[in-house]
Amino acid sequence: MIKKCLFPAAGYGTRFLPATKATPKEMLPVLTKPLIQYGVEEAVEANIHTMAIVTGRGKRAIEDHFDISYELEHQIKGTSKEPLLTEIRSLITQCTFSYTRQVEMKGLGHAILTGETLIGNEPFAVILADDLCDNNGNDSVLKQMVSVYEKYQCSIVAIEEVPLEETNKYGVIAGNLVDNTDDTYRVTDMVEKPEPRNAPTNMAIIGRYILTPDIFDIIRNTKPGKGGEIQITDALLEQAKEGKVIAFKFKGKRFDCGSVNGFVEATNYFYEKEKNV
Ligand code: G1P
Repeated sequence: MIKKCLFPAAGYGTRFLPATKATPKEMLPVLTKPLIQYGVEEAVEANIHTMAIVTGRGKRAIEDHFDISYELEHQIKGTSKEPLLTEIRSLITQCTFSYTRQVEMKGLGHAILTGETLIGNEPFAVILADDLCDNNGNDSVLKQMVSVYEKYQCSIVAIEEVPLEETNKYGVIAGNLVDNTDDTYRVTDMVEKPEPRNAPTNMAIIGRYILTPDIFDIIRNTKPGKGGEIQITDALLEQAKEGKVIAFKFKGKRFDCGSVNGFVEATNYFYEKEKNV
């Protein structure tokens, strides 16, 4: 059973400056909902109700978002605006939110290790909120991954094929097809942001992981890699060498909301979708 979901949310969001100068990038809205709320909803759909959020300086708005604002509630009670709070209220009653701060930005691996205190010794999910996923009528991406975890009982990474010239934006895997009925590969190699000529394949990791807790000790022993940062991709490679990482080609659509292009694409996509409801 996967009960906890970790959200690394300490990054500066420099690609969205000046918007992210005083606002966490995870709070940027696609339509009326902040990115991190989409992530929490995805976790809830996978039956996960304990959210562990790794924050940093300037991220207080995330904590306030997942809390009751009594003044606001009082102001809009009984008005036509009240239904706009239905979804967030429901999340607040269904979930618990715990926070810890990453004091230094030393990479995604380090951010995940910072979350150990909230996770403990159990397998857990990770959502990078700036990868926004839509299930397109399927189960949520994380829910699909939980099913894969239940079958293989090891770390799982979500992957999709990207144009070869974009491999330097992602962790890239190589692997052997285990089962084409569920699109799973046993990972044999993984490289963080390789140049296209060095990329083992064009199968890129997107911001969804299920990790077994031995990953924490592995991260502790992982040296800084690409960009001088402690990379989760490098830590996962250690598990992969023992055959303990499955890559899963999920069903659905994913938007890179860490980039302006992806953000605009997501906004248009969700706008069209809402219009047609
Ligand atoms: C991180 C990971 C990378 C992964 C990506 C998915 O990179 O390091 O392996 O492919 O997330 O979004 P970032 O986008 O944080 O630079």
